[in-house]
Amino acid sequence: MRKIALVNQKGGCGKTTTAINLASFLADEGKKVLLIDLDPQGHAGLGLGAKGDEAEKTIYEVLLGELPISEAILTLEDTLDIILSDVVLSAFEQVMAGARGREYKLTQSLVDIENNYDYLIIDSPPSVGLLTFNGLVAAEEAIIPVDASSFSLHGLGNLLDTIQIIEEKVNHQLSIKILATNIDRRTNFCKGFVETFKARFPNNCFKTIIKTSTKLREAASHGKAIADYDKQCPSFHDYQNLAKEILNEEVEMRAKGFTLGSILEVEGLLKPPEREIMFNLEAPDSAIVEIAGDFNEWVPESLHLKESEGRTLWHKTISLRPGNYEYKYLIDGRWSSDPANDKTVEDPYGGVNSIIYV
Ligand SMILES: Nc1ncnc2c1ncn2[C@@H]1O[C@H](COP(=O)(O)OP(=O)(O)OP(=O)(O)O)[C@@H](O)[C@H]1O
Ligand SMILES: [Mg+2]
Repeated sequence: MRKIALVNQKGGCGKTTTAINLASFLADEGKKVLLIDLDPQGHAGLGLGAKGDEAEKTIYEVLLGELPISEAILTLEDTLDIILSDVVLSAFEQVMAGARGREYKLTQSLVDIENNYDYLIIDSPPSVGLLTFNGLVAAEEAIIPVDASSFSLHGLGNLLDTIQIIEEKVNHQLSIKILATNIDRRTNFCKGFVETFKARFPNNCFKTIIKTSTKLREAASHGKAIADYDKQCPSFHDYQNLAKEILNEEVEMRAKGFTLGSILEVEGLLKPPEREIMFNLEAPDSAIVEIAGDFNEWVPESLHLKESEGRTLWHKTISLRPGNYEYKYLIDGRWSSDPANDKTVEDPYGGVNSIIYV
């Protein structure tokens, strides 16, 4: 059984969407698949329309050793099974506090069904606590979905630290691959993100990119995998391609043996040095000047006022990694592009954003 955990402590980056759709496409390819929901939010079950009236038969009871794993399995389709979770699972960390071997609970539970499936897909919560730890220890491979926000790239470092701890303390080798998700190819930011990303993770990055599509959200809200909801939409092909890529790796990946060592090497590259960029604006008669852009998730930050030789100058230094960034000033509540920068791109509202190349 090939065991794959979807992990990233950043919420909303596409773990569950990927878990659901990957499981569904692998099952459609005739593989026998078990999806385990290790997230107390229970979204994997909801996203596949699994009814929660089996409430007492969740992964929680299995992890506590109160229920044999085979009794918690719910069959969704011929080759697709699921083990649900619910909010009670959030007590797991507390209940297990100090207990010996608490990181191995999932691994131990799986022994009984090791030969019953081709694939195990584990959906993890948005944290690096005991549940994610259990998932990573049980898995042989980790897929880290990363969406196009700098926020999720920042979180990657913590996650890799956790994985390193697992490798060292538990002596467990994990293959790691990163999946770019929720990519809107129309924006320059996303284009740049994908290009830099693929260049920096040539060996640890899926070729497949999951584009932004509202169909994925719709499908999940109808309790369906995309394959059962809309076969025409781009997300259908994206996740189908991902499943194919994973199937193709069956032999290849083991031969190459991607490990944390290789990704940490790449991780060094992930963080090229930041440069201090000084933003300056001459804005007399203004009371508040702020700046917002791709680098701060468009949340305005104040500039500092400096009177110099009778001029009213506003400035702020921001540390930026190499890349393209769109930004605007907010002068007393009014948006304005940077009058000192003639490089602009159209914004979605009919105006223009200034653009800086670092
Ligand atoms: N490619 C995409 N395009 C558009 N919406 C998406 C895409 N992928 C996921 N979503 C939507 O974004 C939201 C978050 O996705 P998802 O639940 O898969 O993230 P998650 O990492 O599992 O979140 P959490 O950390 O809370 O478990 C969902 O509403 C989902 O439908
Ligand atoms: Mg989730």
